Amino acid sequence: MYSKIIGTGSYLPAKALTNFDLEKFVDTSNDWIVSRSGIHQRHIAADDEVTSDLALHASRRAIEAAGISPDEIDLIIVATTCPDKMFPSTACILQDKLGIKSGGAAFDMQAVCGGFVYALNTADLYIRGGQAKTALVVGAEIMTRMLDWKDRTTCVLFGDGAGAVVLRASEEPGILAGKLHSDGQHHALLRVDGSVRDGVVQGDPFIRMEGQAVFKFAVTVLHRVVDEVLKMSGLKDTDIDWLVPHQANIRIIEATAKKLGMSMDKVVVTVENHGNTSSASIPLALDAAVRDGRIKAGQTVLLEAIGGGFTWGAVLLKW
Ligand code: ACO
Repeated sequence: MYSKIIGTGSYLPAKALTNFDLEKFVDTSNDWIVSRSGIHQRHIAADDEVTSDLALHASRRAIEAAGISPDEIDLIIVATTCPDKMFPSTACILQDKLGIKSGGAAFDMQAVCGGFVYALNTADLYIRGGQAKTALVVGAEIMTRMLDWKDRTTCVLFGDGAGAVVLRASEEPGILAGKLHSDGQHHALLRVDGSVRDGVVQGDPFIRMEGQAVFKFAVTVLHRVVDEVLKMSGLKDTDIDWLVPHQANIRIIEATAKKLGMSMDKVVVTVENHGNTSSASIPLALDAAVRDGRIKAGQTVLLEAIGGGFTWGAVLLKW
């Protein structure tokens, strides 16, 4: 038994904030942001939007593309770092918003930017293990609510958005291999320290990052995990038709593609349009490339991501 993606969907909030907009209130420039990150704009959730709303839009589009009824979904995993509430999980709230009463499991997965790969690998294992037949796997984030707009080293990089896939049990190969890693020794390099205690936020509630250390670590480990999934599946790097990487930064994407010996015309890049949307970035990019016809049936697609923790992983699949 395999699992196979049968539908994708994504959603970006209507309000776009360009680098030129940022120049007006942050000590930065469009040239600096574009040259260091490849980002031209990011989207900002409306005041009355919460993460499950973004997830709902993306999920509805994925469910429609899959041609299934929401009630067929017996597993929901929402990868998010920005849950609606401390509890219940955003996945349970999404389950309600979708009107699903199937009683299947629904839970959140917190692996920051590694979240979507973590969630997809987990859903694949549930399906292969016979615990679910049709999974909704979502990455949804409102990262901009954790930004310190006075910290130009972070606030120019992140954005809001959501992406979703429907994964279904299949006789034909879909997901070929997946591998996850983490190394908690580096948890201080990318973090939000704040927590709620006695009704008050304790500690710094904003994203803090050692940018250069994150960059170096990302480039070092990402190609290794790609080698692992290639070995697991018996494929070679030349068999990969499309790389859909976590959209954090064009320079990390280019450096990883170079280490893999892949030319950039086989890499799906959408970071210019939405910045780093953390766990939403891979399904946003995947949905773009599926809908515009780049990714075609039978092609081999590699997804890879790294995020705070650090967490990282890769999933190799046949489309
Ligand atoms: N605008 C203008 N200047 C800036 C800005 C800004 N927004 N931010 C920093 N600078 C300045 C710095 O103050 C510094 O000035 P100085 O030389 O006078 O001190 C100069 O630019 C260079 O700063 P560096 O930190 O050395 O810049 P670097 O080339 O390393 O780029 C960046 C910074 C983009 C953060 C880079 O380190 C990077 O890409 N890191 C990866 C981080 C990342 O993508 N994280 C995403 C989350 S993790 C994940 O998703 C994998």
